[in-house]
Amino acid sequence: MPQPFPGRFPDTRLRRLRRHGWLRRTVAETTLSPADLIWPLFVHDHEAIEPVASMPGVERLPIEGILRAAGEALRLGLPAVALFPVVEASLKSDDASHAADPENLACRTIRAIRTEYGDALGIIADVALDPYTSHGHDGLVRDGQIINDETVEMLCRQAVVLADAGCSIVAPSDMMDGRVGSLRLALDEHDHDHVAILSYAAKYASAFYGPFRDAVGSSAALGTAAGLGVADKKTYQMDVANTDEALREVALDIAEGADMVMVKPAGTSLDVIHRVKEAFGVPTVAYQVSGEYAMIQAASENGWLDGRKAALESVLVIKRSGADAILTYFAPEIARMLARESV
Ligand code: PBG
Repeated sequence: MPQPFPGRFPDTRLRRLRRHGWLRRTVAETTLSPADLIWPLFVHDHEAIEPVASMPGVERLPIEGILRAAGEALRLGLPAVALFPVVEASLKSDDASHAADPENLACRTIRAIRTEYGDALGIIADVALDPYTSHGHDGLVRDGQIINDETVEMLCRQAVVLADAGCSIVAPSDMMDGRVGSLRLALDEHDHDHVAILSYAAKYASAFYGPFRDAVGSSAALGTAAGLGVADKKTYQMDVANTDEALREVALDIAEGADMVMVKPAGTSLDVIHRVKEAFGVPTVAYQVSGEYAMIQAASENGWLDGRKAALESVLVIKRSGADAILTYFAPEIARMLARESV
């Protein structure tokens, strides 16, 4: 019989430690816990629970449904939810003024969660104008351009009403220049120095946000933006070709006062997550976005892969790449799997 180790090598057999489940768990370098997972939720102003067609398993919920989901998040040990409002078309406008209305759906939902659960659950509120603009852009548009500084003023007003309503963290996802510093000043001026900023620092102009835009109803609006000369978000979201630029974005956001930084999408940016965590050592959050979720769910529904295993693996490798926390639509499902120790 030929020997696999003909004397030239020490008898190192890495398979030894792969032999049993308990042994693999013992030597695992990366582990997931429910505390790593943040659950993005869509709230709408209707009584009904409405499935999102392009995100099987995800629903638009009324405030009551959000309260039930928040309770479930607490039971599962998830630290926080991230809220995304579906805004009625009649409330959208070119100046996005409804974003700064303290009675808007996002603010009412935040107040409802706070009233029900106090400080037990984190509430992350998205700061960006896309749910509120008639053209679906994250910023205000003039002469075929997304105008930066006036957008930032509006974002500050939006962040202040969200903080007034009781959110714990504001998460600017707009990618305007200079918004983190301005938000910090605006929040502090309004006695919200305890409200943290999670900046979407390295947010790429990605094709993987499609189902999300569907879920919040901004894709149809974005279609109309072509007439304004701004059909996509490439003048403010980052070019997927770049990673040095991501580090510059992160450096700026930290200098301006970001408490945590986000990289997004997660699955196509594992290298970026790794570089950011290595370079800055700040709390680094990654967003497994709607398209990443939809791909796994679609393949799973077709029987082409085991959706639960693929979900778990996809989130585990995001953690392995350096993320401290992960926004994922799989959050409750994965937390349940971890609780059952079926992994
Ligand atoms: C809006 C926003 C987007 C996402 C989070 N906040 C969409 C976009 O930038 O067009 C995407 C999340 C997802 O795809 O799951 N500023």
